[in-house]
Amino acid sequence: MRAAVLTRFGAPLTVREVPDPEAGGGELVVEVLAAAVAPYAGEVFGGARKYPLVPPVVPGIGGVGRVVHVGPDATRLRAGDLVWCDVTVRSRDDALTPDITLQGWSSRGEGGARLARHLHDGSFAGLMRVPTENGYPLPAAAGDDPARWAAALGVYTIPYGGLLAGELAAGETLLVSGATGNLGSSAVALALAMGAGRVVTPGRNRPVLDLLADRFGPRVRPVALTGDETADRTAMTAAADGPIDMVIDLLPPGAPSSATRAAAMTVREYGRVVLMGGVGMLGGDDLALPYPWIMRNSITVRGQWMYPRTANVGIIRLIASGALDLGPERVRTFGLDAVNEAVGYAAAHGGPFDRTVLTPQSG
Ligand SMILES: NC(=O)c1ccc[n+]([C@@H]2O[C@H](COP(=O)([O-])OP(=O)(O)OC[C@H]3O[C@@H](n4cnc5c(N)ncnc54)[C@H](OP(=O)(O)O)[C@@H]3O)[C@@H](O)[C@H]2O)c1
Repeated sequence: MRAAVLTRFGAPLTVREVPDPEAGGGELVVEVLAAAVAPYAGEVFGGARKYPLVPPVVPGIGGVGRVVHVGPDATRLRAGDLVWCDVTVRSRDDALTPDITLQGWSSRGEGGARLARHLHDGSFAGLMRVPTENGYPLPAAAGDDPARWAAALGVYTIPYGGLLAGELAAGETLLVSGATGNLGSSAVALALAMGAGRVVTPGRNRPVLDLLADRFGPRVRPVALTGDETADRTAMTAAADGPIDMVIDLLPPGAPSSATRAAAMTVREYGRVVLMGGVGMLGGDDLALPYPWIMRNSITVRGQWMYPRTANVGIIRLIASGALDLGPERVRTFGLDAVNEAVGYAAAHGGPFDRTVLTPQSG
């Protein structure tokens, strides 16, 4: 098969013939129809993100495809089925704290690295091997526009993991820290689809704040950030026009922890704060939330990496039902030979609802 290979950090991806993957027991082989290209993919391939990928590797963050081969343990999936292949692979030999690798993308700790040695390659290829439980059946409609579905599933599942972790309820007020970003804007759309009463959207980028307000109407409460922690916190609190039940932070490693703290500390007594961003991953000041503030206000602070398996089913249902409308999303596709162009395009088009997708079966 043909695949895009990262031969070393800093080199462009090389499109070349590699051996077809073979499925062992408990695995599927899937023909990849569409695989999302993250806006920060170039930072991963260039080495700036310091992801524990081990070249040579076929990268990718999951995708939509057709099952070519099922292992003997598959009881529902069959060859020919359309599936979403979730990148989040968990080890099967620890029920409580499984090791995790993001197949073809990243991993956590020594256990995750060990798993990544077996499930090494990702979706920037004609075929992909995935654990049986990582193939989620898709409705036939997804076959009409696999690129749109692949882009959406790759991005919405992440903030959905955070909204599930924070137990967002219909009617509640949510603040999305990083709302103008790729994941943050997706969190806004998703929270509204899940029935959030209000979503406070802080950011520095005025045109994107306006775009969010225009698209979603009065349930969205934009706040122009100044960088002054106290002033920003006051402005975010005022914009909510009532208690903020939950805060989700999706700021990138380049953002200072003070921006996360300003957002987190807007939450009401008994509120929930979910940390999903990259703040501190490349150094910088620690978050330093005041102990007395957490204690006296009975605040729940939790982190969330990726999402539980059920989140895949949840997002598929939200899209299939129309509750989450993918219509307004811009989707640009690239064939396999144009993979480096796709990576550059994605970096330049990482704004809200702008998606870049690789379609490995075309050129
Ligand atoms: N937990 C997980 O499972 C998981 C999974 C994938 C990624 N992540 C993390 O999520 C992060 C966000 O991803 P993304 O793709 O949404 O990134 P992105 O599109 O680059 O979004 C960045 C957002 O952060 C804001 N921002 C940047 N610097 C800031 C600063 N100094 N002060 C205030 N706001 C600032 C930007 O807003 P303005 O420019 O408008 O101010 C923008 O809204 C990633 O970098 C990664 O670390 C987490």
